[in-house]
Formats: sequence, structure tokens, C-alpha cells
Amino acid sequence: MLFRQLFDLESFTYTYLLADEATRQALLIDPVFEQFERDRALVRELGLTLRFTLETHVHADHVTAAWRLRDALGSRIVLSRRSGAEGADLYVDDGDVVGAGAVALTVRATPGHTNGCVTYVTSDRRVAFTGDALLIRSAGRTDFQQGDPSVLYRSIKERIFTLPDDCLLYPGHDYGGRTVTTVAEEKRWNPRVGGEASAEDFTGYMKNLGLPHPKQIDAAVPANVKCGKPEPGALAAAPAWGPVVRTFGGVLEVDPVWVAEHRREVTILDVREPAELTGDLGCIDGSLHIPLGELRARLAEVPGGKPVVCICRSGRRSAQASLILEKAGVRDVANSPGGMIRWRAVGL
Ligand SMILES: [Fe+2]
Repeated sequence: MLFRQLFDLESFTYTYLLADEATRQALLIDPVFEQFERDRALVRELGLTLRFTLETHVHADHVTAAWRLRDALGSRIVLSRRSGAEGADLYVDDGDVVGAGAVALTVRATPGHTNGCVTYVTSDRRVAFTGDALLIRSAGRTDFQQGDPSVLYRSIKERIFTLPDDCLLYPGHDYGGRTVTTVAEEKRWNPRVGGEASAEDFTGYMKNLGLPHPKQIDAAVPANVKCGKPEPGALAAAPAWGPVVRTFGGVLEVDPVWVAEHRREVTILDVREPAELTGDLGCIDGSLHIPLGELRARLAEVPGGKPVVCICRSGRRSAQASLILEKAGVRDVANSPGGMIRWRAVGL
């Protein structure tokens, strides 16, 4: 199984990408609205087809990217039947299985943080995604939405701690950089619910957390009960000047074939050294030459008015050039991936 753990620095949310290596079919658990481009880029770069997005619950601390991913990639939205949210494609309940190729996740209802909280467990029961029911050495708070510490206690004890001791547990969040735990570890060391903790012990702990009201709850919950559907006009428009995509590495790229076909509409900025321009790869007629090492000092020579496409030998130095320009406030800029090598290879 292909597995990636992704992190959102704003909400401390983990998103998990799971895929079947053979069929390239993928699932994404708890995608974050603002990380839509990142997740879409990773799916694209790994050659995956996103079949489903799965929510562990209706989140109060971030908006889901489920709706945006469905809109862009045709993935289907999976949510608990007890979530109270509308607009999902598949409402699941305890015992249901959601699969993409050979990757199959079984739903375990683990309410208590919210009514609709579920834990997703792989078919071999070696990995489980606990959402906010059980966190590493912690547990999801029970003081808003439909939180109930006695219900959460039972969910953890009866539905998570009954998994194999060596089952890896991946939570919905971590606020201290911890990434994974196991059933055995949490049974022993979880300060809220581990050891000999009774329901009363757990409830006492949870009722005295003294946490502030979640920052995003007033915006996040109404959006998440609609699966993260954006309000009209809420999304920044994609760059209109060409088929630009942002890579998982954060670089804006545009297809060189499109660039060749729209040659007059863009400025091509070649950032190779002067000696390279007369080599075998040649250079593109009418391109502007500024070696990468001089670009920061010569920004004023880059004309405004047209989008800028950066190019070099292999597309690496020009990726840095496009980042420099973007940082300097050039809005319409992109790298030509693969550089002059690819430009030549596709017959341009
Ligand atoms: Fe939550």
C-alpha cells in the first residue's frame, strides 16, 4: 500500500493518502480546504486516481477539501450516516467497507467527540485512522458539537483498544509533532484514558481541560455540514493566462507545448549562463536572458504586461527563478518543466 501522511500547519491536521500500488486507485482521509492544490498535485505526480475522500467527522477546526476534490477530480465524498452533513456521495456506518483497488477500510463508529465520528481500519487491522476520537497521548475534546466524554470513553475502550496491540494508530491531529502511535502504547500511556482509567476518571479529566473556544468553529462547521462547498466567489480564480498547475514541491508550471503555441503572449526568461545559450540545445528566439545568479539584482529588466515563463537546461534553475519572481510579486509566472531538454524532446 502506498501511504503518505500530510500535515496542515494552520490547523495541525493530518491528511492521509492511501493507494493501491497496482491499480493506482487512491483514498484521501480528512483533506484540508487550503491544502487542495497540494493534495491534487501529489495525486497527479504519483499517477493516482482519487476514488474517495473520507471524513472521520464533521470538523470544527478546519474546512474539508472534499467538495473541491470531487469537483476537480471526480472523487466521491464519504461521511458517517450520523454526521448530520448533507451532500456526501456515500453515507457509511459501523461495519461498512470503503475500498480503492486492494486498499479497503472498515468503518468503526467511535462517537463521543461528535456523534458522527468514525475510525477507519485497514482490512488486516494493522493500521487505523482514529480522527479526533483518540489522539496520541490525548483524546478529542468533548465540550462542543455533540461531545460526550462517557460516550467517547466507551468508543475508545470498546472500538479502538480492542484492535491488535501492534495496530498503528494515526490521529486526526497532533499539536506536538508526534506522528503515529500504537494500541498498546495508548492503552498503557494515554494520560486520559490509558492504564486503569475509569469512565469517571476520563470524564473528570475531559471536563476540566479549560480549552479556549476553537478559532474556526463558527466558519468550519457550517461549511463542513455541506462537505466544504465554497460560497460563490470565495475561491481565488485559477491563473487565467494559461494551463498553470502548482507542483507538490510548490512550483508553478506550464506545459511547454502550450507555451510554444502561445509564444507571442508570454515573455520567455532563460536563466542559463551565457555560454550555454550557444550549446546543442540552443535557445528560443526572442527569449530574455538573465542568469539565475543575477536575477534578484536585475528584476527590473523583466518586463511587465505579459506572463513570464522561466526556462533553463533541465527546468531546475528555472524553477528557482519562477519562485524568485513570484516572491517579488510577479503574479503571472510559471516554470517550463524539463527545460530546454524537454522543449527539444517534444519537437519544439
Ligand atoms: Fe474534530
